[in-house]
Amino acid sequence: MRARDVPVPSILLILFALSVVVTQAPFFRARRLISDAGGGRATACTKDAATCGCDYSDGKWVRSRSTDAMPYGEDCPFLDPGFRCMQNGRNDSSFRHWRWQPRRGSCHLPKFNATDMLERSRNGRIVFVGDSIGRNQWESMLCMLAASTPAGSRIYEQFGKPLSRHKGYLSMVFADYNLSVEYYRAPMLVMVDRLPPASDGAIKRAIRLDALPWHAARWAGADVLILNTGHWWNLHKTIKSGNYFTVGDRFNMTTNIKEAFRRSLQTVKDWALTNARLSKSSYIFFRSYSPSHYGNETWDTGGSCVEQWDPLTLITSESDWHEHLWINTMISSAAQRMRRRHGMNKDAVFLNITYMTGMRGDGHPSRHREPETPSDAPEDCSHWCLPGVPDTWNQMMYGHLVSMGFDIRSIKR
Ligand SMILES: *[C@@H]1O[C@H](CO)[C@@H](O)[C@H](O)[C@H]1NC(C)=O
Ligand SMILES: *[C@@H]1O[C@H](CO)[C@@H](O)[C@H](O)[C@H]1NC(C)=O
Ligand SMILES: *[C@@H]1O[C@H](CO)[C@@H](O)[C@H](O)[C@H]1NC(C)=O
Ligand SMILES: *[C@@H]1O[C@H](CO)[C@@H](O)[C@H](O)[C@H]1NC(C)=O
Ligand SMILES: *[C@@H]1O[C@H](CO)[C@@H](O)[C@H](O)[C@H]1NC(C)=O
Ligand SMILES: *[C@@H]1O[C@H](CO)[C@@H](O)[C@H](O)[C@H]1NC(C)=O
Repeated sequence: MRARDVPVPSILLILFALSVVVTQAPFFRARRLISDAGGGRATACTKDAATCGCDYSDGKWVRSRSTDAMPYGEDCPFLDPGFRCMQNGRNDSSFRHWRWQPRRGSCHLPKFNATDMLERSRNGRIVFVGDSIGRNQWESMLCMLAASTPAGSRIYEQFGKPLSRHKGYLSMVFADYNLSVEYYRAPMLVMVDRLPPASDGAIKRAIRLDALPWHAARWAGADVLILNTGHWWNLHKTIKSGNYFTVGDRFNMTTNIKEAFRRSLQTVKDWALTNARLSKSSYIFFRSYSPSHYGNETWDTGGSCVEQWDPLTLITSESDWHEHLWINTMISSAAQRMRRRHGMNKDAVFLNITYMTGMRGDGHPSRHREPETPSDAPEDCSHWCLPGVPDTWNQMMYGHLVSMGFDIRSIKR
């Protein structure tokens, strides 16, 4: 169960799988100014985040006071070895001392109060679904919550599975709260099926645009559902790796990844809308794209983020960010179609972390990957050191939950 037992190749595989095509840090050339509908303090608002005008996406990173305590340490037992950057030789902790300050006029972003989050989540299920960066965020949430549980309180995997598993799912139970915080691996959200070897070997897997993975039946019972995808929707991970799209029982040899992505999001949306529990009482988040920072290169051509230090210096840089632009546009419109006027009881929240994360090239493991990584292995400029940037994503999510009045104790099942 110790996270240290993760076999070394696991993160290598993940990194390979991420095969990010993105170049240099992303910045938004034309920043749309979102008019501030409500402002004020998040806690005062009883409506959904959009109505309250809680737009945390725009703002700046500010140096936090040295007295601000880290939410947890690298010794948190739920961390993948590859995310423990200091243990892996990183010698500066400057990346930990930044605080996100949303643009003036937006809602107050409350500090993450783990005790409060645990109390509000009592008898509930918090479910993360997505790729390995979703796992990164899940581990951050586990560690932030675990740091506030009373000494001696039990946290265990529901089915006794080792944390080193990177397939299927893991469900961590906080015994004192009867709360489970779960992670389901579904890098494309829709189902990816391994096929019997074909005679010509061209087609290896079917990406079923109209179906969800077998474990989706378990996501459906979530009280809080956090979805993410994006890094796998490129030619390298699909057609070039022998993974072809299917709809129904027909292979669709299209190479139009954007169309396929749109179709897959429709599947997710239809599922949420037709699922009584999800549409009635769940809080759904769709997290935006988490930018990588491989300099001008890609992960497999020597891309590097080891020299990226200071979030402030990156603010003025202009570069190509088309990759996540279309992904984010589609995710945000999928979230909009999961809103009240379309039959949900609450609005799904588009958790827009792309801009703030784009400034954080300093937060990746880079060369300080898990022990025994060969010295010529690619840098990891996709995942995040923990404690680190994903803690702020979870803080933002907490801010939205508070502003929406999330409290499982008050939900009538
Ligand atoms: C995400 O937030 C950034 C910063 O506020 C904004 O420029 C961008 O348009 C947002 N993305 C979407 C798809 O709304
Ligand atoms: C910290 O690490 C960097 C590169 O990883 C190295 O260049 C530098 O000398 C180290 N500094 C200290 C104080 O050890
Ligand atoms: C955190 O939340 C708990 C429970 O709601 C509350 O008692 C406590 O005062 C809060 N702590 C801070 C620092 O706001
Ligand atoms: C624990 O939580 C589950 C929901 O996840 C609920 O069905 C069950 O009744 C809870 N148990 C107790 C003892 O409250
Ligand atoms: C194949 O997929 C593309 C993109 O989703 C779609 O436009 C086209 O109609 C599909 N063709 C068939 C035969 O399903
Ligand atoms: C990317 O390339 C441009 C132009 O060649 C260069 O000015 C810049 O320093 C490069 N950035 C990085 C991070 O290597």
